[in-house]
Amino acid sequence: MADLRPIVSVAIVQQGDVFSHIASHWYTPVVPSNHAFLLTSCERLNPMYRRQLRVMRQESFEMTAKQAQLDLGIDTGGETPSSEVRVDLPSLTVISEPKGVVYTKSWVVDLILDLAGYRASEDLAALYAVEPSAGDGAFLIPMIRRLLDSVEKHGKTLDETRSSLHAYELNQESAARAINLAVTELVSRGVDAKTAKKIARGWVTVGDYLLESRTDRKADLVVGNPPYIRYDDLPEGAFDTYRRIYPTMVGRCDIYVGFIEAGVRQLVEGGALAFICADRWMRAAYGAELRRALSLLFSMEVVIEMHDAPAFENNVSAYPAVIVIRRATQGTVLVASANAQAEPLPASDNLADSLVALAHGRIDQVSGFTVTSVTKWFTGTGPWPSVEPNQLEVLRRLEEKFAPIEDAMTGTKVGIGVATGNDSVYVTTDADIVESDRLLPLAMAADTKTGTVVWSGHYLIDPWQRGARHVDLASYPRLGAYFQEHRDELLQRNIAKRSKDDWYRTIDRVNHELTKRDKLYFPDMKLVSNPTLDRGQTYPHHNLYFLVSDVWDLEVLGGLLLSKVAQLFIEAYCVKMRGGTLRFQAQYLRRIRVPDPTLMSEDIAAELRESFRNRDVVKATNAAIEAYGIQDLAGTFSC
Ligand SMILES: C[S@@+](CC[C@H](N)C(=O)[O-])C[C@H]1O[C@@H](n2cnc3c(N)ncnc32)[C@H](O)[C@@H]1O
Repeated sequence: MADLRPIVSVAIVQQGDVFSHIASHWYTPVVPSNHAFLLTSCERLNPMYRRQLRVMRQESFEMTAKQAQLDLGIDTGGETPSSEVRVDLPSLTVISEPKGVVYTKSWVVDLILDLAGYRASEDLAALYAVEPSAGDGAFLIPMIRRLLDSVEKHGKTLDETRSSLHAYELNQESAARAINLAVTELVSRGVDAKTAKKIARGWVTVGDYLLESRTDRKADLVVGNPPYIRYDDLPEGAFDTYRRIYPTMVGRCDIYVGFIEAGVRQLVEGGALAFICADRWMRAAYGAELRRALSLLFSMEVVIEMHDAPAFENNVSAYPAVIVIRRATQGTVLVASANAQAEPLPASDNLADSLVALAHGRIDQVSGFTVTSVTKWFTGTGPWPSVEPNQLEVLRRLEEKFAPIEDAMTGTKVGIGVATGNDSVYVTTDADIVESDRLLPLAMAADTKTGTVVWSGHYLIDPWQRGARHVDLASYPRLGAYFQEHRDELLQRNIAKRSKDDWYRTIDRVNHELTKRDKLYFPDMKLVSNPTLDRGQTYPHHNLYFLVSDVWDLEVLGGLLLSKVAQLFIEAYCVKMRGGTLRFQAQYLRRIRVPDPTLMSEDIAAELRESFRNRDVVKATNAAIEAYGIQDLAGTFSC
């Protein structure tokens, strides 16, 4: 009989792409019914991985045949994966959080354990619960308390809890403190000190969860607060080692991405991961592969944004969210937001149950929280929005029904103005500095304070001729002399170093056609949306984003974009700055959905046009609500 060891099984998602079938078997040992089964060799699998990873633009990923076997959960004949990958890992103690370890408050721990269903009323001794990064035991000790209460309730013995819990901790001293606290807890329950020590040492191990969980058992629950260590703060070599094991760790992601992947991989069917963790991965590019893997194979069950809530013992800006992810088909999602008033409820009330009751309308309020429940979650690699729970439904509906603003059908495009590399040389208000046809009226952010551009008299000293070639300086003696005078400064720029012949070019080429077109400008970094019309007079500077269209009346579109409805898209997807400033960058503007301009009634169009002219946000929002046909959700938009 042929030796089957180098053969691996790959589940193929019908109508799926290459990554889907690789990913599906990475993440699930159970082949769903819509999967066919294929036997293929590691030699064939490797090019598939590489091809897909090139598509993902992952910088470097060397997948050995052995690694493929490990990732696909194939028995490697007794050799542990961690022994192989540990070789080039730096010493454990070096990997620590540079800004200090963040410890979770006990009411947040209770909320998370309750949401995940780790309650004393259940037979917890029969489960296997893992804390991947125990610290001093903020989760571990409440887990032990619940476990011991459950043992009593279910008539089990202490002995039966020995393999019900496993806490990892990389730092030896933290692990020792966690063990001591566990011993104290056991002793307070009447366990003798010797037995207590033995049990506690069995529960807590010093080790790297990202490496060692791969040989651990499948778990019913993975719960905790993973470390936050940015790409740049990890010691050399560590990131590449982790990335070889956890393919969702793409780009310059934080280590917690690896913890989420490792955690969900460890789950049994029906098991849950419950973390409090930074939520940047939900929108950042580096979270794209994690979002895709989760939406393919797991169910988002709870997302509670806690940016302003007092979740941690230390006062840190970690932008955290509580997440519960289950290895199951996607079901209803509880989406909540906690503000600075969020706090534990009186002992008689259970916060997790109250949030569920609020989401289903059984109670009216929970102080410090807004909550909703949605029946669908986001799929693919696209960012997950961050909005108030009641706005999520609006967003979902608009995204389902309407097309993105940038659309070939309407010839609508979004872009950014010209970057020069040295504005002090290229931007001037001197109308006589070079030949007049080398001066392009330049719109600056400050020119967009009202609804129409008020040009401040700035020019771009324009080195480009039509056809996107730089001009011949011999034909423009004054321009030539000006650039020669500033030659040293211009040569400092990377773009000049890269292309020696056109050392006087701006970073971006100038598209002269754009100047003559009507366009809407958006200054970046604003508290509110501020579209401004340019009637073919100026060219945008690089801190302005612009929008042109073949079909839209730009004043009508401007009214729509002035409205709170359009702003909702920006609020949902952009990374907010301190004080609530929004980024109006191209990638966020492109998220805006709009109704079909050819189907809009003349009355609504007139309302939008007028409100744009008068900068009337309230009127624009009311007209937009009609244009989108969301009158039933009008209450969401307070002006
Ligand atoms: C953010 S703290 C969380 C502590 C505790 N779970 C809590 O919520 O208060 C993260 C802990 O993870 C530990 N840690 C860092 N990298 C680790 C790794 N690769 N494996 C296990 N623990 C790790 C750190 O030493 C730190 O104690």
